[in-house]
Amino acid sequence: KRRDLANIPPGPKPWPVVGNFGGFFIPTFVQRRFGQQAESTDVNAAVNLMKKAEVYGNVYSLFVGSQLVVVLNGYEVVKDALSNHPEVFSDRPIIPAITIMTKRKGIVFAPYGPVWRKQRKFCHATLRSFGLGKLSLEPCILKGLATVKAELLRMNEESGGAGVDLAPLINNAVSNVICSLILGQRFHHEDSEFSTVLDLMVRGLEICVNSPAVLINIFPLLYHFPFGVFKELRQVEGDITAFLKRIIAKHRETLDRDNPRDLTDMYLIEMLAKQDAGEEDSSFTEDYLFYIIGDLFIAGTDTTSNSVMWFLLYMVSHPDIQDMVQAEIDEVVGRDRDPSFNDKGSLPFTEATIMEVQRLTVVVPLAIPHMASERTEFRGYTIPKGTVVLPNLWSVHRDPTVWDDPDRFNPARFLDDERKLLRKECFIPFGIGRRVCMGEQLAKMELFLTVTSLLQAFKFRLPEGAPPPPMHGRFGLTLAPCPFTVCVSPRR
Ligand code: HEM
Repeated sequence: KRRDLANIPPGPKPWPVVGNFGGFFIPTFVQRRFGQQAESTDVNAAVNLMKKAEVYGNVYSLFVGSQLVVVLNGYEVVKDALSNHPEVFSDRPIIPAITIMTKRKGIVFAPYGPVWRKQRKFCHATLRSFGLGKLSLEPCILKGLATVKAELLRMNEESGGAGVDLAPLINNAVSNVICSLILGQRFHHEDSEFSTVLDLMVRGLEICVNSPAVLINIFPLLYHFPFGVFKELRQVEGDITAFLKRIIAKHRETLDRDNPRDLTDMYLIEMLAKQDAGEEDSSFTEDYLFYIIGDLFIAGTDTTSNSVMWFLLYMVSHPDIQDMVQAEIDEVVGRDRDPSFNDKGSLPFTEATIMEVQRLTVVVPLAIPHMASERTEFRGYTIPKGTVVLPNLWSVHRDPTVWDDPDRFNPARFLDDERKLLRKECFIPFGIGRRVCMGEQLAKMELFLTVTSLLQAFKFRLPEGAPPPPMHGRFGLTLAPCPFTVCVSPRR
């Protein structure tokens, strides 16, 4: 073990007990705690970690408490680990604060192995079937967007030119898509039970990753501390559990095995089929379903709605690009019908602009932590079993060896000379390898339909005299844009 540690990747010298923890992660939540608006991109942990690569190299190590963490930076290194060594680098670490919430069940934080594989395969296939079958996604997404557009117009008029904060509307529309898929029901954005649960889910994870509760990872007993965020975390956990258990019980009582309404029904049917077939070791249980529902809500809402918000922010900051996207939509879709996912191939500039915004903003900048499931040699270093591995996706999207002028917003980099879309291997907002995002297709569809529908219907601009918000964003659960408001003028 000592020999292994002698050959781990280089890195800054750790402090006793806390390791390098303070210098890397604490500034983020300390600043948020005291309500300071970040002035520099330094608050983005991914940027912080990328800068350290200039000192220690693209594979370097640090310690969170006594836990060894290896940070992977740049396209070559991230691809090498996740694509060429998937059997070693596809596990998830035991992060005490998160394990308390997830019990290592569901998909996102489940250990790499046969149970995770079966659950992921089933959920992935079920989500895909919704795109084609009677629970077709496109009308579901467009229905939500019709509400967003109507509400936006109303709020815009009421604001008298001060601008509208679109985030709650977009968040609600995106959540409703997930809700329809998983729970077969939509909720109004003013539905207090639903929005409370959504807020609780985001808050719960935010506490785990970005508050003093991260100290639970070093001192797990703090979870039982009777004050502050520790107490709040336990309360949040209890409220979410009660809500989801109620929903599953209702599905079980009204289940019609010949007419599944949503993913929950399909899961229950699969579970019963396995029970009927006498599969005793089946991992399909109501308990597992509970964690899967939580996973899909968490993984599928904040990520997608923040991607839409980043897109709108770039459009108001670059009105010339907004004009070009709208000209393309007018030419291909016109103004008299809704855009369809089938239009995607005919809107290369729009698609390139979405990709360029995703490249620059990376809403899940450090992916979800991976773990080495066995001791391995990687690029000349020893990575001991159990090492936490952070693939820095942000650094891949700013890697000067694969992107020209990486900090510049330039959608044309995704187009060839004939203005056809270029697929680039180093564009990986959804990650790569075995743990690649399970909702990638759904997210792409939502993103495309949302931005094309909104830009077809409205011209977006910042309120008169309002300064553009800083472009570095806020790092909470995902990387979100700093709050901003927009004014809209109808085009349709
Ligand atoms: C995992 C990005 C939307 C479900 C991930 C990962 C990233 C990501 C970077 C981690 C990959 C890794 O650990 O290496 C995004 C982005 C989205 C988005 C940028 C929107 C623009 C969604 C949606 C869903 C979803 C809509 C579900 C309905 C998941 C799941 C995982 C995951 C279940 C865990 C996969 C596993 O561990 O096997 N996503 N995601 N995501 N995402 Fe997404």
